[in-house]
Amino acid sequence: MNSIDSLLHETRRFPPAPAFVENAVAGPELAEAAAADRLAFWGDQSRQLLSWSTPFTQTLDWSEAPFAKWFADGKLNVAYNCLDRHVEAGNGDRIALHWEGEPGDSRSITYEELTADVKRAANTLAGLGVGHGDRVAIYLPMIPEAVVAMLAVARLGAIHSVVFGGFSADSLRARIDDAEAKLVITADGGWRKGKVFPLKNAVDAALADGESTVEHVLVVRRGENTVEWTEGRDLWWHDTVEEASDEHEAEAFDAENPLFILYTSGTTGKPKGILHTSGGYLTQTAYTHKNVFDLHPETDVYWCTADVGWITGHSYVVYGPLANGATQVIYEGTPDTPHPARWWEVVEKYQVSIFYSAPTAIRSFMKIGRQEPQKYDLSSIRLLGSVGEPINPEAWIWYRDIIGAGAAPIVDTWWQTETGGIMISALPGVTTLKPGSAQVPLPGISVDVLNEDGTPVANGEGGLLVVTEPWPSMLRGIWGDPERFVETYWSKFPGGDGEPPQYFAGDGARKDEDGDIWLLGRVDDVMNVSGHRLSTAEIESALVSHPWVAESAVVGANDETTGQAVVAFVIVKASQADVATAAEAADVLRAHVAQQIGAIARPRQVFIVTELPKTRSGKIMRRLLRDVAEGREVGDTTTLADTNVMQIITDKLK
Ligand code: PRX
Repeated sequence: MNSIDSLLHETRRFPPAPAFVENAVAGPELAEAAAADRLAFWGDQSRQLLSWSTPFTQTLDWSEAPFAKWFADGKLNVAYNCLDRHVEAGNGDRIALHWEGEPGDSRSITYEELTADVKRAANTLAGLGVGHGDRVAIYLPMIPEAVVAMLAVARLGAIHSVVFGGFSADSLRARIDDAEAKLVITADGGWRKGKVFPLKNAVDAALADGESTVEHVLVVRRGENTVEWTEGRDLWWHDTVEEASDEHEAEAFDAENPLFILYTSGTTGKPKGILHTSGGYLTQTAYTHKNVFDLHPETDVYWCTADVGWITGHSYVVYGPLANGATQVIYEGTPDTPHPARWWEVVEKYQVSIFYSAPTAIRSFMKIGRQEPQKYDLSSIRLLGSVGEPINPEAWIWYRDIIGAGAAPIVDTWWQTETGGIMISALPGVTTLKPGSAQVPLPGISVDVLNEDGTPVANGEGGLLVVTEPWPSMLRGIWGDPERFVETYWSKFPGGDGEPPQYFAGDGARKDEDGDIWLLGRVDDVMNVSGHRLSTAEIESALVSHPWVAESAVVGANDETTGQAVVAFVIVKASQADVATAAEAADVLRAHVAQQIGAIARPRQVFIVTELPKTRSGKIMRRLLRDVAEGREVGDTTTLADTNVMQIITDKLK
C-alpha cells in the first residue's frame, strides 16, 4: 500500500498547465501575503470572504493557549453568510443543490429556495424551544433536509451534532447524552444499496427508556417505511417545517459562538465531541474551498462525495461551498447502486467540473476497471480532490488518467475533524504536483515534522506532524472535557519558556528533499478504514460487552481497498467455549460490533485465540498481532511476558 519504500521511489512530477494557470483563482500572491503578515492575511481573507454584521478589530487572541479566539469581537450569522447574502447579491436563481436520490429521483434547489427552506425550519425549531446554545442532534440520510437542518440550527445560534446515519442506536444515544441534545432531527429511513434503511427506529430505540434530554423528534418522510409514533414527542417535518413562515430575520452572534459538535474516535473507548465555532471556521472553510478547488462559482459544478455525518460533509458540502455561493451535487446512495458506474452517470448528468472524493473509493473503482467510468462523458471534470488517507501513487495516476482525462490537477488534501478545514494541499495553478504527497501547508498555515524531542527533522527524514501556529478553523475544545483537549493535542509538544504549545496531529510524516510533506498514517491507536476514523479501544470495548468474550485486541491491518481493515483477536470465556465453533463465534461477534457501533466498525476478521501477546507490564503488543493480521513473519517477541504466546496464536490460526 502506501509503504515508505514505494513513496521514496515516486519521482513523477506534474507542473500546472499554462491554460489552467491563466484562469486560476489562487496565485503565488497568496503565499507572499501570508508570509509578509500571517494574521493580517487571515483578517483580510475573512473580510473578503464573509459578511460581518459587526466587524472584528482583533484577529487572534492566543493569550490563553491552547484555547484560541479568532475574530472575537466580531459578530456574524453563519446561515446568513451561506444563504441570504447570495440572494441579496442577485444570485437567488443560482442552483445551490442538485440532489440525486439513490432510486433516481432528483431535485434542484436554488439559493432563493434553500434560503426560504432554512427560514421555515428555523421558525419551526424556534417554536420547539430551540434557541441560542441549545444542542440539536441530526441523524439523517444525504437528502437536502440534512443541509437545511444544519443551517437552521446555525441560524438560531444553536449547536448541531450530526450523527452519521450508519451509526447504531447506542452510538446515537451516547452522542445525545454527551451533548444533552434537546431535539433530534431524523427521517423515517433513507436509501442505501437499493433498500430503505430505517433511521426513526434507531432513534426510538435510542430513546426507549424515556430518560434522555430529548424533548422532540422531528421526522422527514423519505423512505416511506412504517414508523412507530410517540404522540407529543414526534413531529413530521412536512406538517411543521413545510407549513411554517419563510420570514426569518437572522440574528448576528459572536464569532466564537459554538457552531457544532462532531464526535470522532480517539485513542480511548469514548468518542470525543470536537467543538467548532463560527467566524474562524467559516473563514477557513470558505478560503480553502475557493482556493484549493479553484472555484469559479458562476460556472463550476462541484461535487464532494462525503456524507454530512463526517467533517468533510460539514466543511466541504455545507459550509465552505455555500459560503462561496457554489453550485453543487449531493447524492444519497452508494457509488455502485443500481450499477457500478452510478457516480459517473451523475457526473455526466450534472456536468460536474470539480470532484472531491476519497482514495478508498478510487481504489474500488480501479478494481472494477476503467470500462465503467468510460461509459460516461466525464469531460466536464477539470479538477480532482482526495481526502481521508494517503493516496497511493498508483491510485493517483489512475484517478488523473481515467477520471481526469490525463489532465485534471489532483489536490491531495490533508486535514482532520479537529482542524476543521484543509491544512496541507497543493494549490492548483501554483504547485507542481507529486503523486502520493499532500505537499505544502496552505498559505496562512504553519506545519512542521518533529522528532520525539520536539526538534524539526531535516529534509529527507520522518517524524511527527505538528501545526506550529494556531489557525482559524481549529477545534476550540472537546465538548465538556477541557483537560482531555489539552492532554490529547497540546501536551506532547507543550512549549514553555514563553513558547506556546504546538498541535500534535497524531500522524507520522516525512519531509522530502524539497521539504514537501508525505503522510505516513496514524502513530496512535486510531485506525483509518475507508477514510473513516475508528478507535481500537472503542471496538475492543464493544467486543467485551458481548457475554462470550473474556478479552480482545483490535488492530488496523493493511487492506488493498479500504486502506486499513479492522482485525480482532478474541479470547472466548471458558464457559462459552463449547457454545459455538470458532467460525460461528466470529460471525456473531462481527455482527455484535456492527450492532453496537455501526456497520463501518464491523471487523473484517475475528480470530478466536487462547492468549494475547502482552509485555510484562500487561500492555498488548499490537505490532505482533498486526504481523499476523497482515500475514507476515512475526517480529521481535523478546519483550513479551511469555515468549511462546505468538507461537500458540499462529499455530491455532493455521
Ligand atoms: O491520518 C490522517 C488521515 O485522516 C485523519 C483524520 O481523520 P478524520 O478526522 O476522520 O478526517 C478525515 C477527513 C478530513 C488524519 O489524522 N488523513 C486525512 N486526510 C489525509 C489523511 N492522511 C493522508 N493524506 C490525506 N490527504
